[in-house]
Amino acid sequence: MAKKKRKKTKVASKKRARKVVKLAARKPAAKKGNGNGHLPRVSSKPFGQDGKALTGVQILDFTHVQSGPTCTQLLAWLGADVIKVERPGVGDITRGQLVDVKGADSLYFTMLNHNKRSITIDSKHPQGMRVLNALIKKCDVLVENFAPGALDRMGLTWDYIHKLNPRMIVASVKGFGPGPYEDCKVYENVAQCAGGSASTTGFREGPPLVTGAQIGDSGTGLHLALGIVSALFQRNRTGRGQKVLAAMQDGVLNLCRVKLRDQQRIEKGPLTEYSQYGEGVPFGAAVPRAGNDSGGGQPGWILKCKGWETDPDAYIYFITQAPVWGPICDLIGEPTWKTDPEYATPRARLPKLKAIFGRIEQWTMTMTKFEVMEKCNAVDIPVGPILSMKEIAEEPSLRKTGTVVEVDHPTRGKYLSVGNPIKMSDSISEVKRSPLLGEHTDEILKDVLGFKANEIAEIKNSGALSAPKKEEKAA
Ligand code: COA
Repeated sequence: MAKKKRKKTKVASKKRARKVVKLAARKPAAKKGNGNGHLPRVSSKPFGQDGKALTGVQILDFTHVQSGPTCTQLLAWLGADVIKVERPGVGDITRGQLVDVKGADSLYFTMLNHNKRSITIDSKHPQGMRVLNALIKKCDVLVENFAPGALDRMGLTWDYIHKLNPRMIVASVKGFGPGPYEDCKVYENVAQCAGGSASTTGFREGPPLVTGAQIGDSGTGLHLALGIVSALFQRNRTGRGQKVLAAMQDGVLNLCRVKLRDQQRIEKGPLTEYSQYGEGVPFGAAVPRAGNDSGGGQPGWILKCKGWETDPDAYIYFITQAPVWGPICDLIGEPTWKTDPEYATPRARLPKLKAIFGRIEQWTMTMTKFEVMEKCNAVDIPVGPILSMKEIAEEPSLRKTGTVVEVDHPTRGKYLSVGNPIKMSDSISEVKRSPLLGEHTDEILKDVLGFKANEIAEIKNSGALSAPKKEEKAA
């Protein structure tokens, strides 16, 4: 009986397999390609020039300041057509913040808005709403990071947008997710504090510290971009848009997850890899600030190098990774530590980390950070030179990969920017300068939205796309 059943199953699965083969043969993709029935493994176009990953995706970019613009800039680098909607006369507030060249858009703005087009629209003007409605019908994604409720107050509720365009994805950055703080306005450092970063950054003896990396703004923008691309992917199956929310508190916490890990460990005993353990300082109820301790299981610390007395960046991050303990001992001139039971095992070293790093520092101080790096990398010891922004700006290898790029701008001239950090073999990013305020208003009305000349004149004459005249402003 069992044999009969197995036989039946075998026959059925053979039939299924034949069906699958037939179906596969019918796939149009198999007809294209290199003549052998397979798609070419390598593009026939030059490296990285076979179109862009997000070609064809249109983004209605209602973002400002940093978090939202980081997201849409990334999507633009990946090939999306990003149409930035700005308030007439003012634009994104960052255009005029931290200005270094009088009369030109600031670096703050230009470095966050590459590869986008700009249209000015007063969203509170009926003719402005007419243009916005057309954009909503045309675009795939609306991205915004206004204060909570601002989009609704414009009349652009989810229901309204979804009715106009059921395929539209509405993606938002907010400071907090649903809960007691959902109505709060939030900037970078607020998010760093609320997301657990500040309480765990800095030295034990000092106050909480914020970090230079914009994990609240740019970090959340990156999270949102992933949400948008995933929603586009899902839309291929469902045909429907959806809401995507990235809250800055959540984004920061996601980047601080090792600290939530430690919070749970601390409830079971001391965090032995923290230098405070070796120093005999008792732990409290919450994860302490760990100075320059490594976040993982391999102890590390920042050590002085030659020139530290005058150069604030003459330091190196040194990791005493267990598998290379032997080479470390040889390099620093302590070969007996390889076998001495007081030093030979990671557990034996934990209470003495401060003294061990002190001894390693005596060695690193005899060389520049680059010499230390060379000596250590030769024997696979992981170290990180503290690179200043000046050194990074001048680093030839970063220029070569396009991670640091020089961009020309009509009103400010040449400036440096960070290019796309994501490298793709078929979708290279060409970094194009940020748009001037309203630079593409006409072409968007005409070419993207298909308004006729008389309609464009009507919209323009209404004042919906231009700054209010001085007297109107004063009144
Ligand atoms: N036409 C007409 N009005 C416009 C407009 C346009 N094109 N673009 C924006 N506005 C209006 C908005 O409708 C809003 O008006 P309302 O308050 O009357 O409804 C107003 O401009 C201000 O928007 P808001 O977002 O409140 O700006 P803000 O400068 O007061 O606050 C933030 C800035 C960043 C604090 C706030 O936007 C915020 O908390 N955003 C979410 C979190 C975030 O992204 N923070 C990080 C920023 S890097």
